[in-house]
Amino acid sequence: MTTPTDQRVALVTGAGQGIGLGIARALAEAGLSVALTDIDGESAVRSAAELASAGSTTVGLTLDVAQAGDWAWAASAVIARWGRLDVLVNNAGISPRGTVESTDEALWERTLAINLKGPWLGIKTCLPWLRERRGAIINIGSTRATRPMPGLFPYVTSKAGLLGLTQQVAAECLPLGPTCNMVAPGWVDTPGERVIQAAHGRPDFPEGVQNLTTAEEVGAAVVYLASPAGRKVNGVILYLDSGLHVADDAGMVYLPEEVRVRYHQPHPETGRA
Ligand SMILES: NC(=O)c1ccc[n+]([C@@H]2O[C@H](COP(=O)([O-])OP(=O)(O)OC[C@H]3O[C@@H](n4cnc5c(N)ncnc54)[C@H](O)[C@@H]3O)[C@@H](O)[C@H]2O)c1
Repeated sequence: MTTPTDQRVALVTGAGQGIGLGIARALAEAGLSVALTDIDGESAVRSAAELASAGSTTVGLTLDVAQAGDWAWAASAVIARWGRLDVLVNNAGISPRGTVESTDEALWERTLAINLKGPWLGIKTCLPWLRERRGAIINIGSTRATRPMPGLFPYVTSKAGLLGLTQQVAAECLPLGPTCNMVAPGWVDTPGERVIQAAHGRPDFPEGVQNLTTAEEVGAAVVYLASPAGRKVNGVILYLDSGLHVADDAGMVYLPEEVRVRYHQPHPETGRA
């Protein structure tokens, strides 16, 4: 058995790019050793090397979150390397379009396999080590977990399920186990989102959007929830969307211009959006 390293250890899924990479960077900068995992193993290794070149302790691993065997292998690799696991971040996800009627079984199964079964398999696999450390599980959800939008049927269903999973795991792990929370970003500029935009014929994000969330902000929230200071936060959904979820429209994206534009009006007193 490897002697546990003194540094806390995190495993992040879908960390080859986008939000997952932002989370991995934030955790590494906070002093954790980080396993960057991705179904695209090359991107995981590349991103891990990038963080290592800045002085962090990292490893890049291939992990398809929908495969139980991949989880067993990746968790063993982390334990063999560092002897402990303190933080699990279930970030990998896809956001396909489809209504309740247009979604076929294959799309339903793929979305639920990655966005919902994946986090469950990860938690199930990593729980023995996370329990040992009284660690933290952070699931990356979406404002869409509680604010549905037409055309996002399989995505919304998977993220709502992930919220239930988050709360159930938090309850099952009480009182001494790891905490389990969901971070729910608003819209984030990532390579994956750019592909979706392009598929809708949009070369860029809408001009004038001022409330995008950044991968760095998601990373900072994860660092807090994983830290001793965040220990009392358990079973919550932490929205990172500038408060749009409490407005009458969590959208701002893919909405008719006349609806969307009112969220970009400057504040009457501060002049800021
Ligand atoms: N970008 C946004 O606006 C936004 C908003 C709210 C929530 N989210 C959530 O944040 C997470 C990351 O989104 P992103 O925008 O960075 O996406 P992205 O597409 O840019 O990156 C996702 C990463 O996950 C990996 N991945 C895909 N399927 C996988 C699998 N089966 N196993 C392991 N890795 C897999 C991809 O290879 C990729 O590296 C997702 O869960 C998404 O639902 C994104």
